[in-house]
Amino acid sequence: MAMAVYGLKDKVALVTGGSRGIGLDLARRLLAEGAKVAICARKAEGLSAAAEELASDNLLAVPCHVAKEDQVAALFAQAKEAFGRLDILVNNVGMNLFTPGLAETELALWQKIVDSNLTGSFLCAREAARLMRGQGGGKIINVSSTAAHRAAPPMGIYGIAKAAIEMMTKVLAAELAGDQVQVNAVAPGMVKTGFSQPFWSNQDKHDQITARIPAGRLAETGDVVEPVLFLASDAASYITGQTILVDGGSSIV
Ligand SMILES: NC(=O)c1ccc[n+]([C@@H]2O[C@H](COP(=O)([O-])OP(=O)(O)OC[C@H]3O[C@@H](n4cnc5c(N)ncnc54)[C@H](OP(=O)(O)O)[C@@H]3O)[C@@H](O)[C@H]2O)c1
Repeated sequence: MAMAVYGLKDKVALVTGGSRGIGLDLARRLLAEGAKVAICARKAEGLSAAAEELASDNLLAVPCHVAKEDQVAALFAQAKEAFGRLDILVNNVGMNLFTPGLAETELALWQKIVDSNLTGSFLCAREAARLMRGQGGGKIINVSSTAAHRAAPPMGIYGIAKAAIEMMTKVLAAELAGDQVQVNAVAPGMVKTGFSQPFWSNQDKHDQITARIPAGRLAETGDVVEPVLFLASDAASYITGQTILVDGGSSIV
């Protein structure tokens, strides 16, 4: 088990999209830190498998589609009831569908991608802000992507939604700074999860991508989880409204 180094013992965290990938690894690390953790995802089977794997009395797993207002309200109510407060929200849910050019895009497709990535993060941040204000502080961390920084069709709408998440990070940070709520984001490059598997499972594509990364490798989930834990800790209390690029140096070359 990983060592507790971030001072998060007995903190209460909610991680959206916690049934696999980065969110699952983050939930595991938060539990190892001694935090109490609520996770959500849409599919109950994924949540049950995650709960079985994490095997902790300090875990709450709740089915929730983050773009559905009533489900988000119920998720936060359940977390509050179980753990009494909320110290950390990680808006980790994200999804991508390959899209045609914007000129060819149907409204329904646009809406689907914007809803899961952006509207869901807004709805969760709104609930968290209300709870955190009332209890004297907290941390909100949003998971963006390097796709927010470079136009990369056919991931255009995803990139637009992630860029908006980074601006939402600044707006919320400005609004909540006086309430001792810090709001920050991380923007990973490609991370080895099921989400990005179509890119890295093929060796040629994998090699082409890693050739453009100064670090010479794709990110593992832990490469993203550790900066999130730092932002969730008291060590980051004077950092707000920032996005940390977690990209092995891709953005600087
Ligand atoms: N992997 C990468 O290369 C990469 C790179 C840059 C940024 N990111 C970002 O990192 C975050 C995590 O990515 P990941 O690679 O860990 O993804 P992942 O492996 O696909 O996991 C996504 C998680 O989110 C849940 N989810 C998806 N849509 C949801 C919704 N509408 N409501 C509630 N839960 C939902 C999924 O469970 P259900 O399907 O059961 O809902 C799952 O638990 C995302 O924001 C992604 O955009 C990833």
